[in-house]
Amino acid sequence: MTGIEELLLSRIRDVADYPEPGVMFKDITPLLADPAAFTALTGALADIATSTGATKVVGLEARGFILGAPVAVRAGLGFIPVRKAGKLPGATLSQAYDLEYGSAEIEVHAEDLSADDRILVVDDVLATGGTAEASIELIRRAGAEVAGLAVLMELGFLSGRARLEPALGGAPLEALLVV
Ligand code: PRP
Ligand code: MG
Repeated sequence: MTGIEELLLSRIRDVADYPEPGVMFKDITPLLADPAAFTALTGALADIATSTGATKVVGLEARGFILGAPVAVRAGLGFIPVRKAGKLPGATLSQAYDLEYGSAEIEVHAEDLSADDRILVVDDVLATGGTAEASIELIRRAGAEVAGLAVLMELGFLSGRARLEPALGGAPLEALLVV
């Protein structure tokens, strides 16, 4: 394990039986509260944004906002929020998806994405891949290109990577940690 992987992993707290019995929740708030770890995390994700040639960063509400906005600033790129349904005032594209616990719908302002854009999607956790898959679908429907997906942590046992392969169409999926 590399130094940054050890640092990030050491700041993620396992919470048993949250939000429901049998689920081990990965709490990233200790990492966010540690300036060295948060700086290392956003720097590593910004390097991915640069190397993929992204023109903008999409962050997925809510925890993807916490990571995606500083990543966009550090990489010198614009930031686009993909929000849970009903929060954006303008003309939106919507996509329903299944969650690990239930189902949901996400939206983006269609005018934020153009055919000239290459989008890096940033989120904290890749679990089943449902949220990321829906966001990729939104980006493609808006006419933009997907530069890749970057997450802090991939839950390997849920096989989200395999689910996303067709949607990514060869674009990279970068996970700083696989647990
Ligand atoms: C969590 C997590 C990812 C998503 C991963 O978001 O932050 O966005 O689930 O799950 P999936 O790969 O199975 O789709 P959630 O909407 O639960 O909470 P948040 O609003 O705190 O980000
Ligand atoms: Mg989330």
